[in-house]
Amino acid sequence: MANSIIVIGAQWGDEGKGKIIDLLTRQSTAVVRFQGGHNAGHTLVIEGDETILHLIPSGIFNDVDCVIANGVVLHLPTLFDEITLLQKKGVSIDHKLHISTLCPLIFPSHIALDNAKEKTLGSKAIGTTGRGIGPAYEDKVARRAIHLSDMFDAERFLEQLNRLMEFHNFLLVNYYNAKPLDVLAVGDEWLSYADKVKPYVKDTALFLDSINNSNASILFEGAQGTMLDIDHGTYPYVTSSNTVAGAASTGTGLGPRDFKHVLGIIKAYTTRVGSGPFPTETQDESGEHLGRVGVEFGATTGRPRRCGWLDAVAVKKSIINNSISHFCLTKLDVLDGLEKISIAVEYDYNGKIFTSFPSISSDELKRCKPIYREFKGWEQPTSGIRNFRDLPIEAQDYIHAIESILSKKIVLISTGPDRKDNIILEDLFT
Ligand code: GDP
Ligand code: IMO
Ligand code: MG
Repeated sequence: MANSIIVIGAQWGDEGKGKIIDLLTRQSTAVVRFQGGHNAGHTLVIEGDETILHLIPSGIFNDVDCVIANGVVLHLPTLFDEITLLQKKGVSIDHKLHISTLCPLIFPSHIALDNAKEKTLGSKAIGTTGRGIGPAYEDKVARRAIHLSDMFDAERFLEQLNRLMEFHNFLLVNYYNAKPLDVLAVGDEWLSYADKVKPYVKDTALFLDSINNSNASILFEGAQGTMLDIDHGTYPYVTSSNTVAGAASTGTGLGPRDFKHVLGIIKAYTTRVGSGPFPTETQDESGEHLGRVGVEFGATTGRPRRCGWLDAVAVKKSIINNSISHFCLTKLDVLDGLEKISIAVEYDYNGKIFTSFPSISSDELKRCKPIYREFKGWEQPTSGIRNFRDLPIEAQDYIHAIESILSKKIVLISTGPDRKDNIILEDLFT
């Protein structure tokens, strides 16, 4: 079996998945996005040049096949903006990009519904990215989604769009008291994409199967994070897709035996964008340090990210939900200069101690108080270090403590945003 790896976020997203995917792509034949949509923001820094990708797999800067598989909800204007951006940077797309016939399409009315719903929720709003992700997945499950392949028969497509947007407009006007959208204008715009997108469209399950059969390695690029999973996350403050490793199977059409490793990405601390419970959130000086030094602003919406300590209770849940085999630790350098560093190892909920993530409502989770283990910080910078032995001893101790608490090996450590700033401890491809 090929050494295919699923890379997933083991926290609340923005763990640094994009950077790690770019790094690991060098040893792969293909990179695949299998869930989510342009709510994702994956950042790459290559020789000082930053690129944020929302839809196109983060391996595109390498000479590999990049696949957007059936589990992804597709916003065509964003796809073409991204293609233009990459072409301007001299990255070739043709012959490298493959998009599933089965991707459900996101239309402006999904975006309008997302925003209208958030407005109506008021203080209970989820804090979505406003990209129409929830309504698009709702339509998929309700069996009224329009697939990418439906665009190639213009007459049928316009009929489907008419029916779908009639329903969306009904909701917008009558339930949300919002403005309806012009179906004809949307139809014209989307049909203008049909010929442009066609060369990329195929049966990606078949394509990935042929790569598997040639014994080459495939990298599966998770978006969001486990704690935002529709089933396993902090519901209802979650996204609308399964973000766990299992989605790499349903989201591509490959079976569960086609995957070898699951690499969980964790930041050396925790962040969350949007509303919802966040037990280790800290608003004191250390929280301010993490946000400022970590430059914690959303890569998609620019919103400031909430910051807090590493939450081992939540990460242990991620190990179960994803069958994580190894970890990658990112943003270690952001802890440089902190006097003390904490890791939550248990929660106290009304005097009851939880060692594993409690199966309670989000409202109850908000009342959980983390119990911390404290570690000594370090003064010497770790930024850009590429050799474990060059790390300050306190940083080495901190890393070993995480491994011991999680009972898993950290095989990769990221010490800066640049693609070169890594400590590689084990090669998962060999
Ligand atoms: P993703 O959504 O998981 O791909 O993560 P994002 O790109 O949304 O957020 C991660 C941010 O941290 C980006 O700005 C990265 O450039 C940056 N980053 C990634 N790894 C490191 C690291 O090891 N150190 C520092 N200082 N920044 C990093
Ligand atoms: P990457 O792949 C962090 C969050 C939103 C909101 C919730 C629902 O870059 O890690 P949605 O628009 O999906 O309906 O919003 O999920 N969210 C993310 N948070 N990183 C992401 O992606 C996210 N994608 C969605 O902030 O709380
Ligand atoms: Mg992100």
